[in-house]
Amino acid sequence: MSRMLKLGLFIYPGGHHVAGWRHASTPAHRLGGMAYYTEVAQLAERGRFDLFFVGDTLFTREKDGRFFGRQGISNPDPVSLISALSAVTEHLGLVATLSTTYHEPYLIAQKFATLDHLSGGRAGWNVVTTWEDRAALNFSRDTAMAKADRYVRGKEFIDACRALWDGWGQGALLADAAAGRHHDPALIAAANHVSPSFQVRGPLRMPRPVQGWPVLVQAGGSPPGRHFAAQIAEAIFTAQTRIEDAQAFRASTHALMAEYGRAPHEVVIMPGLSPLLGSTEAEAKRLEEELADLVHPEVGVWMLSENLNFPLYDRDPDDLLPVAEIRQARQATASVETNLKYAEANRQTIAQAARVIARSRSHNSFVGTPEQLADMMQHWFESGACDGFNMMPPYFPEQLRVFVEHAVPVLQRRGLFRREYEGRRLRENLGLAVPPARR
Ligand SMILES: Cc1cc2nc3c(=O)[nH]c(=O)nc-3n(C[C@H](O)[C@H](O)[C@H](O)COP(=O)(O)O)c2cc1C
Repeated sequence: MSRMLKLGLFIYPGGHHVAGWRHASTPAHRLGGMAYYTEVAQLAERGRFDLFFVGDTLFTREKDGRFFGRQGISNPDPVSLISALSAVTEHLGLVATLSTTYHEPYLIAQKFATLDHLSGGRAGWNVVTTWEDRAALNFSRDTAMAKADRYVRGKEFIDACRALWDGWGQGALLADAAAGRHHDPALIAAANHVSPSFQVRGPLRMPRPVQGWPVLVQAGGSPPGRHFAAQIAEAIFTAQTRIEDAQAFRASTHALMAEYGRAPHEVVIMPGLSPLLGSTEAEAKRLEEELADLVHPEVGVWMLSENLNFPLYDRDPDDLLPVAEIRQARQATASVETNLKYAEANRQTIAQAARVIARSRSHNSFVGTPEQLADMMQHWFESGACDGFNMMPPYFPEQLRVFVEHAVPVLQRRGLFRREYEGRRLRENLGLAVPPARR
């Protein structure tokens, strides 16, 4: 069979555009509830998506001691959400984000083993190390752990989890009522994991997960993050806006994996993609303007303050952007300096600069028709830039519905995407092998 695209749905209540939750088609009052998530997950399944991905930040949007109330709500607890969704879907892979910095391996191995059993082999874990200081404040610490240390702990965490998942051998569960033998102790062993961060005896009190392990996902972009991914990731989410960068990222990931004795077919690389679709190009462009007009001016100023790392909330938005003051306050990074130079040259007010920033996207975004989107996706896929995409509709569920009903059939007609699921397990659909049992 020829190589097929893999598709993830990156859920963010309301949508990935900052003003998505305000769009007329978005049910702002229902966001975050079971009916909303069920509708979106079932729509993704109708579109034959491989997986449904829930992120987690462990802090509320806040800056300089202020809470911000003009953006949509965040996701609730990912593992609880995904457990609930396993009951209303049949094939969709379910990927939850969990931090290795603020948990213990036994508990997490148990949660994902449970999720994999409950869902019949559809669990995935987006392994994050949580970089934000704001999260540390919620876990009895003042600052985040240093990045290198976070990733060392992350690797030890995964080693401990794998040892736990491997504790029950294949066939250890007998359920032989007549003989009174429920499971075979000869096929069950303690994990006995010992590393600088953890000491975990095990075994878990449940059989090996249906998929051996949940599919391990990673999204770190720094050198330690990328080495971590090269060692453990089976799917990688990444933010790439240029095809050349995506090609280089995929090639260098494969090269890095080879250093750890792993082959390219052991990973699926999925850049984020946020498409705004219309039945004509003009309609899509009109929707783009509609969304830009829905960005509340304070959201723009907030985003600008975050981008420049300089508080502008209390200024008059019609004042000129205080470029000299910002430069003086701190050493500007290259991207901030680019924005400052642009603002200076165009004598931008705070409001004007905010409007420009509010339109920018860190992930690849696309505005056009389903056919044009399919062309772009095909080009990236066939030129080695990716194995699929993590789709980030600008607003849900309407733009997801348009993608499912109008773009998916185009990809299917071109032989680029499945018409039916290959199987019920996430590993089968992603084309990933089940890790062999150790006993
Ligand atoms: C598509 C995508 C989704 C991510 N989701 C989360 C998340 O839900 N929670 C989180 O703490 N970090 C998340 N991250 C951040 C990464 O895990 C990582 O920390 C970040 O990209 C910085 O890389 P580094 O840790 O290697 O410096 C995500 C990154 C990407 C690209």
